[in-house]
Amino acid sequence: MPALNIVPFVSVDNMMRLVHAVGIEAMLVRLAGAVAEDFSRWDAFHKTPRIAAHSPEGVIELMPTSDGHTYGFKYVNGHPKNAAGGRQTVTAFGVLADVGNGYPVLITEMTLLTALRTAATSALAAKSLARPGSRTMALIGNGAQAEFQALAFRALLGIDALRLHDIDPAATRKCLRNLAGLGFDLTVCASTEEAVRGADIVTTVTADKRNAVILGGNLVGEGVHVNAVGGDCPGKTELAPEVLARAALFVEYEPQTRIEGEIQQLAPDHPVTELWRVLTGEAPGRRDARQVTVFDSVGFAIEDFSALRTVRDLLAEHPYYENLDLLADPDDPRDLFGMLQRARPPRLVA
Ligand SMILES: NC(=O)c1ccc[n+]([C@@H]2O[C@H](COP(=O)([O-])OP(=O)(O)OC[C@H]3O[C@@H](n4cnc5c(N)ncnc54)[C@H](O)[C@@H]3O)[C@@H](O)[C@H]2O)c1
Repeated sequence: MPALNIVPFVSVDNMMRLVHAVGIEAMLVRLAGAVAEDFSRWDAFHKTPRIAAHSPEGVIELMPTSDGHTYGFKYVNGHPKNAAGGRQTVTAFGVLADVGNGYPVLITEMTLLTALRTAATSALAAKSLARPGSRTMALIGNGAQAEFQALAFRALLGIDALRLHDIDPAATRKCLRNLAGLGFDLTVCASTEEAVRGADIVTTVTADKRNAVILGGNLVGEGVHVNAVGGDCPGKTELAPEVLARAALFVEYEPQTRIEGEIQQLAPDHPVTELWRVLTGEAPGRRDARQVTVFDSVGFAIEDFSALRTVRDLLAEHPYYENLDLLADPDDPRDLFGMLQRARPPRLVA
């Protein structure tokens, strides 16, 4: 049994080792499985829209949930202008804790883990919502999340043709470089119009702190599934309302998505379906080959909980962590002050 002061800590370096030990696509499949399992026991979780602190530059959010045995939360930011200054748009870390005694059992980086769990959740949703046999995906926004989305859609749906577009050609070049040699049929497109041509699935994963129109009403053809990832804050959306009006809409946790998702542009009673209902068979996913479906992804705490518990379990086989001296552990639990006093450095005698 580890000492009570110690909490396993997964650094970025160790997360990269862990993901490579498992395999990137295998990790995406495993995360999608964990999200599906947790969404299927939806009622077991304490749920709340995330707690967001907005500023003109971005947002900092806390995302807590608990299944009564284990508690998890993620700290995450979203600052679309960060990349210009050499920083990530999205960074994150998270904690898993034992509800029985309140002690943390894991603290981990979650910037990589967020990209993985977001892509895994997108692909999980698309498995129920995209037309069977979908092969081609338009990927609009070729930043930090993009390659993860591509690999998840291949691992879970067999998507092997990608049509890439970003307003910044350097982002597309980076994406092309990273995906070259991985077996995709890759096409660089000069515009969103060009990228969506012939695509079965359209993923929008752009960063812009406004109600942007990445996909106008005339760009979404019959039968297309839209995986809308980048619109995830009040006043930050990607789809024209006309696209939403024509589509069957699927969300993670409705109370949060009403605030943050594409559907903030619609009437508060516009019908939407929570994804967990589709996964458990309570509600239908796609009804026919002509229907337009939208997964209005914002990212929900249970996905992070699923990712955190997956990492916790993987550490048993792949011990890529450090022991962090995080929790005060006096010999007598009530003698916290005595512990501090005993640690006083000896006074220097002149
Ligand atoms: N739903 C979720 O769970 C979830 C999780 C993580 C990130 N996100 C969101 O996904 C988005 C992308 O995140 P990231 O980490 O990849 O950001 P990033 O800054 O690394 O990349 C965003 C890319 O979008 C491009 N872009 C901006 N406007 C565009 C436009 N009009 N057309 C085409 N491309 C455009 C930028 O040039 C940039 O390359 C962010 O908005 C982030 O908040 C959502």
